[in-house]
Amino acid sequence: MELLKTGILGLDNMLGGGIPSGHIVTVLGPPGTGKSTFALQFIYAGLQNSENCMYMSLEESEENIIKTASILNWDMQQYITNKKLTLVYLSKMDLKATVDLIENDLPKLFKLYKVKRLAIDSVTLYEMMHDSDSERRNHLFNLAQIVKEMAITTVMISEVSRENPYYSRYGLIEYIVDGVIILKQVRQSDKGAVTTVIEVSKMRHIEHSKEAKPYNITKNGIMVHSGSEVFL
Ligand SMILES: Nc1ncnc2c1ncn2[C@@H]1O[C@H](COP(=O)(O)OP(=O)(O)OP(=O)(O)O)[C@@H](O)[C@H]1O
Ligand SMILES: [Mg+2]
Repeated sequence: MELLKTGILGLDNMLGGGIPSGHIVTVLGPPGTGKSTFALQFIYAGLQNSENCMYMSLEESEENIIKTASILNWDMQQYITNKKLTLVYLSKMDLKATVDLIENDLPKLFKLYKVKRLAIDSVTLYEMMHDSDSERRNHLFNLAQIVKEMAITTVMISEVSRENPYYSRYGLIEYIVDGVIILKQVRQSDKGAVTTVIEVSKMRHIEHSKEAKPYNITKNGIMVHSGSEVFL
């Protein structure tokens, strides 16, 4: 099985090499835990591996995405210029236009740009556009089918539920995807300091670490300390 590196070294170690090609993985966590950084890092790793990539944002403009990446020393512009990277910004669209783009135009765009890797930031904003759980489930399922059919390795960023920060806001996406990676904030009882830890709670088809490992966001992106233990 081909494993695609996430670009986060310690996480790739936890996964035994990377994410299985063609998998859809959701990355969920509270605000500021590095979800968008994760998505960018995953895409940048794909670009460095000569894969055609797409970054779909429902919250940030193309300009902002490029700027955030450049602060992390990832030059996205060169890849856009040579058509290896496609940025799609959906924020200003209404529900019908968004669903239409995703369910009708996306397969064409995937073919046109020969997309191998995709990041969606965030799938929660897409879920929020639908009124009922059944509509949310149907449209999420359609989106998953589209990327599955094209065998595109995908990271879907998700916000967490207010009641339980270890589950996505609507508790649906976990069942649809092949993998779930959780970013957690834990308060260490002795020091009172907050540590961020990463855990692979689900990854179909591979044997992976089930332990939570500490990570930091640095000027070069997310660094997972996969050799360290977390003492709480
Ligand atoms: N250059 C940097 N050096 C150190 N830490 C940084 C750097 N850039 C960002 N951070 C940290 O990353 C956090 C933001 O990361 P990111 O935007 O990826 O989080 P997020 O989970 O997507 O947040 P949100 O839920 O608001 O979308 C900041 O709050 C800061 O703590
Ligand atoms: Mg974000």
